[in-house]
Amino acid sequence: MIRFDNLHKAFGTNEVLRGFSLEVDEGETVAIIGYSGSGKSVAIKHIVGLLEPDAGSVHVDGQEVGVLSRRELYALRAKIGYVFQFAALFDSLSIFENVAMGLRKQGLLTDDEIHERVHEALTLVDLEDDVGGKLPSELSGGMRKRVGIARAIALRPKYILYDEPTTGLDPVTSAIIDRLMLRMQKQLGVTGIVITHDMRSAYTVSTRIAMLYEGRVQQVGTVDAIQHSTDPLVRQFIEGRAELQDVGSPAA
Ligand SMILES: Nc1ncnc2c1ncn2[C@@H]1O[C@H](COP(=O)(O)OP(=O)(O)OP(=O)(O)O)[C@@H](O)[C@H]1O
Ligand SMILES: [Mg+2]
Repeated sequence: MIRFDNLHKAFGTNEVLRGFSLEVDEGETVAIIGYSGSGKSVAIKHIVGLLEPDAGSVHVDGQEVGVLSRRELYALRAKIGYVFQFAALFDSLSIFENVAMGLRKQGLLTDDEIHERVHEALTLVDLEDDVGGKLPSELSGGMRKRVGIARAIALRPKYILYDEPTTGLDPVTSAIIDRLMLRMQKQLGVTGIVITHDMRSAYTVSTRIAMLYEGRVQQVGTVDAIQHSTDPLVRQFIEGRAELQDVGSPAA
């Protein structure tokens, strides 16, 4: 379980999180929605200790992240796949090596086993084998995003954090990613958090949705509860997103 408890985080005078609390239970995929700059990425960076709380806490499997030793933090990170908002691939390394990197660092598998895992992960995100030999610069943005996901799932993590996995992708590629996230949850039992601007994706992949607003959770509930929310701020947000999506998609 991942639990945020009254998390506060400011950068200078910019108070981003102001009492953010949320629980993500085993087997769930919780979507975090909210306006750009509202602190969604900041919130999940606390889960892997990339940021430290000013006040409040984040627990993963009962361990408080902010107080772990370096070694404990590495052990914790081994359980968590992180798909960064901007794919964050190493430009000078092949796709294969980018996906293999975490596995090599863990040092638990033979070369053959690593090969197999990378192949399996690339197949899961619908990338052909020949992609492994390419450099990130030779791939489209959507393909790079999928490599970022492959890198996370190659570790067979207990948790996956997806930061905007479908943003900027065409509808077909987005649907592939949505299916993949569902499969991770339903077949592999991975617990997930997905930050998304894409309400269709949120409705498809999540068990619950939380809206972050002014540093706190404005509302959290099932897909149905959010779709039928009577909270004016939630309504305004999802109706605004729907308009944007209608403009962005081809006429039916
Ligand atoms: N390392 C940092 N140093 C200073 N300010 C930061 C840092 N990281 C984030 N911020 C600020 O915190 C606020 C929230 O940023 P965050 O990236 O979490 O937004 P977001 O909700 O993920 O937005 P988007 O939907 O655009 O990705 C922004 O005002 C941002 O400028
Ligand atoms: Mg973000």
